[in-house]
Amino acid sequence: MTATAAVLTSGAVHLRGVVKSFGSTTAVAGLDLEVQRAQVLALLGPNGAGKTTTVEMCEGFTTPDAGTVRVLGLDPVNDSAELRPRIGVMLQGGGAYPGARAGEMLRLIAAYSARPLDPDWLLRTLGLTDAVRTSYRRLSGGQQQRLSLACALVNRPELVFLDEPTAGMDAQARLLVWDLIDRLRKDGVTVLLTTHLMDEAEQLADQVMIIDHGRMVAQGSPAELTTHGAELQLRFSAPSRLNVTLLGMALPEGYRTTEPQPGRYLVEGEISPQILATVTAWCAQQNVLATDLRVAKRSLEDVFLELTGRELRE
Ligand SMILES: Nc1ncnc2c1ncn2[C@@H]1O[C@H](COP(=O)(O)OP(=O)(O)OP(=O)(O)O)[C@@H](O)[C@H]1O
Ligand SMILES: [Mg+2]
Repeated sequence: MTATAAVLTSGAVHLRGVVKSFGSTTAVAGLDLEVQRAQVLALLGPNGAGKTTTVEMCEGFTTPDAGTVRVLGLDPVNDSAELRPRIGVMLQGGGAYPGARAGEMLRLIAAYSARPLDPDWLLRTLGLTDAVRTSYRRLSGGQQQRLSLACALVNRPELVFLDEPTAGMDAQARLLVWDLIDRLRKDGVTVLLTTHLMDEAEQLADQVMIIDHGRMVAQGSPAELTTHGAELQLRFSAPSRLNVTLLGMALPEGYRTTEPQPGRYLVEGEISPQILATVTAWCAQQNVLATDLRVAKRSLEDVFLELTGRELRE
């Protein structure tokens, strides 16, 4: 590797001007991306945005049409033999030996690794102890996901790629996974994950990148993305179809009052104690009880919807 290349690729993952098309579909349209070591980057985007394609190019499973991809300073396709033992990969929708028992599968992968994590510890941490003797095919969807994650981690990788790691998991399993990812980061592991869950991104990620149509539309820490240029918002729940125009008229000029989802109301503008009092007084006048009343900065979900104009899955 030349000195220039070393400077360019100091991050754990480095993409510059990456393009990938499938026939007439441009899945990734000139993407720049940087993941620093020991950081978690969450890639967010609507279905078909290009997340999996991006991750697969980092893993060396897909070759870019143009641009540069460097992972731990290496080319994922040409240097795959050197890179493979240093990374962990969890594919979207699994990728396993359906007949193998969960415990055997994990121990087999561990046996090929120079410095594996203890498979029993991993199974315990991911709540899979009871499923050790069950074949992969008979595990529930959420258990399969957790086993795939264990398989991605057992070789103690420096860097892991997790494509929707908690998709289909119940709330408890999700917490186990979040906890594990958090621990990995504290141990200096770099994580590039994709997700459709805003709370997952907010909880785990140092950096968030929102992509749409294969292009970056926003990037920053969760806090940067949610506070940038935004005022506080007032949200509350009440019976649907209240007259938001009337509510707007009760407020000073310049406030926006909407019902983004049935029964969920949003007041945008400078939210002062007087504005809060006016809104609750107006509700009282309508003989309506406002519940879940919340004054907060906009959420990552608001940012996502603003930028992509699309609903999230789940
Ligand atoms: N092997 C392929 N052949 C043809 N088209 C593909 C292939 N892989 C991806 N695509 C297309 O590229 C685009 C991006 O797909 P990709 O799987 O990267 O999206 P994604 O952001 O991961 O979506 P999701 O949230 O649904 O997982 C889509 O339009 C998809 O149909
Ligand atoms: Mg995907």
